[in-house]
Amino acid sequence: MTTIAVLISGNGSNLQAIIGAVEAGNLPGVEIAVVVSNRKDAFGIKRTIKHGIPLIYFPLLPYTRAGRPRSDYDADLATILCGFQASWVVLAGWMHVLSSAFLGHFPSRVVNLHPALAGTFPGTHAIERAYRAYQRGEIDHTGVMVHLVPNEAVDAGPVVAQIEVPINPQDCLDDLEARIHRTEHNLLVNALRRLLVDNQSGR
Ligand code: GRF
Repeated sequence: MTTIAVLISGNGSNLQAIIGAVEAGNLPGVEIAVVVSNRKDAFGIKRTIKHGIPLIYFPLLPYTRAGRPRSDYDADLATILCGFQASWVVLAGWMHVLSSAFLGHFPSRVVNLHPALAGTFPGTHAIERAYRAYQRGEIDHTGVMVHLVPNEAVDAGPVVAQIEVPINPQDCLDDLEARIHRTEHNLLVNALRRLLVDNQSGR
């Protein structure tokens, strides 16, 4: 069994894609050991509970209020995941940048999803920024990327998989967001299959 932790901050539609793939047998040998949310109101919490997956709510605020450094939060988060025997970590819409205090526990085993192509639109609101860039004539397509997280660089690291996503002249932002999300649900599951299933069985 390969046990993964999934870290979320919001809707959790990518978490749902992983849950669906695990339950359908499309990620054989993969088990979600725990889901962590840093936000109490994240809809992904409801998805987690519905599927009977262990859930940890782990906010940063108590650390900030106590004047504790970010590395304390990151180190404690890593300890929690190790307690669930997680061997891989999937950042599925997790809105914190993780430091070496966390990453050092999971070298080359943290996977992030970015709703744009490698090297483009790092950080928040990537889809909207790509849409605006399209409107200005700067790009004619965008994409989705899954990558490993070796360090604190935002939305950067060795690419596991990426795919282009077209932008159409008649698209509104909602259209593009929906197309990106559909694409990333598939890409994330395919990337996890490659990393966690194919690689593990020596294929
Ligand atoms: C996704 O677009 C992901 O690429 C980005 O945050 C969003 C999370 O969506 N990093 P969800 O919470 O999985 O629905």
